[in-house]
Amino acid sequence: MRIGVLTAGGDCPGLNAVIRSVVHRAVAHYSDEVIGFEDGYAGLLEGRYRALDLNAVSGILARGGTILGSSRLERDRLREACENASDMVREFGIDALVPIGGEGTLTAARMLSDAGLPVVGVPKTIDNDISSTDRTFGFDTAVTVATEAMDRLKTTAESHQRVMVVEVMGRHAGWIALESGMAAGAHAICLPERPFDPADLVKMVEERFARGKKFAVICVAEGAHPAPGTMDYGHGEIDKYGHERFQGIGTALAHELERRLGKEARPVILGHVQRGGTPTAYDRVLATRFGWHAVEAAHRGEFGMMTALRGTDIVMVPLAEAVTELKMVPKDRMDEAESVF
Ligand code: F6P
Repeated sequence: MRIGVLTAGGDCPGLNAVIRSVVHRAVAHYSDEVIGFEDGYAGLLEGRYRALDLNAVSGILARGGTILGSSRLERDRLREACENASDMVREFGIDALVPIGGEGTLTAARMLSDAGLPVVGVPKTIDNDISSTDRTFGFDTAVTVATEAMDRLKTTAESHQRVMVVEVMGRHAGWIALESGMAAGAHAICLPERPFDPADLVKMVEERFARGKKFAVICVAEGAHPAPGTMDYGHGEIDKYGHERFQGIGTALAHELERRLGKEARPVILGHVQRGGTPTAYDRVLATRFGWHAVEAAHRGEFGMMTALRGTDIVMVPLAEAVTELKMVPKDRMDEAESVF
């Protein structure tokens, strides 16, 4: 069998672990040939690929990023790919394509599958917002990085009697904010799923200072919004990939709190540091298992499917099911963390 693999969308710790696992299972066990398309779907469209043998994936398990490169695909180019799907299969002689990516990549994977490409998807995103899988790899690493950052920020915040507003990633879903905020003991958490009122945050900070706790850490997801009428904060434009350009809620909220409290409030934007660097052990293991199961599915001819974690098992689920809706933080998870909302 000849298997094509690509990584698309935002990078994520664990991508290299999947690539390595696909190559190990396919080459060492099945004597398959594996090719890696460069820079996501762009490499597929432009015929840019290279052979991946055991040597090519040696030493990459713990490396962040992706050795294949990644990119986002504009909708017009995706349509072009779908129209040429069968030609591409013939041209590259691939019997299976394994795209590793988030919601956008898997939506594209589904379209390519519907257009006739033999596709087995592997979900990835630090946001953990793909429905049908209990977890995506990369999420554990992002939560670990954000937690460590907040642990560190607490000591400096306390020394200077400051409010720290820590903005973490999470475009539509607040999983990173929820779990890192809980793990770090943040004093408030703001999620995209539940608009917040800055007045509640002011009250929380004032109560803490009144009790002699002269600092606070507020964890805010980049996609969080204030409730209508509570604070001046606009929606951004939509970029060419269909994503809202955020206005910087961490900075806006820190300024607002400083104004209302008359105390120093500093924004800290963690940004891409959450996505860079080595994956945690958990993410390496999950990524490796996904890669192994993707090759197995390809050999069983289970196309149009995606690997998923259910409990402790890896199962295959239809791509169609995986991309219909995002997995948002449910109310009961917010209730568990209510004391910090
Ligand atoms: O989807 C993963 C993610 O890291 C989001 O949390 C974030 O909003 C987005 O990607 C950032 O994308 P880019 O790297 O293109 O700025």
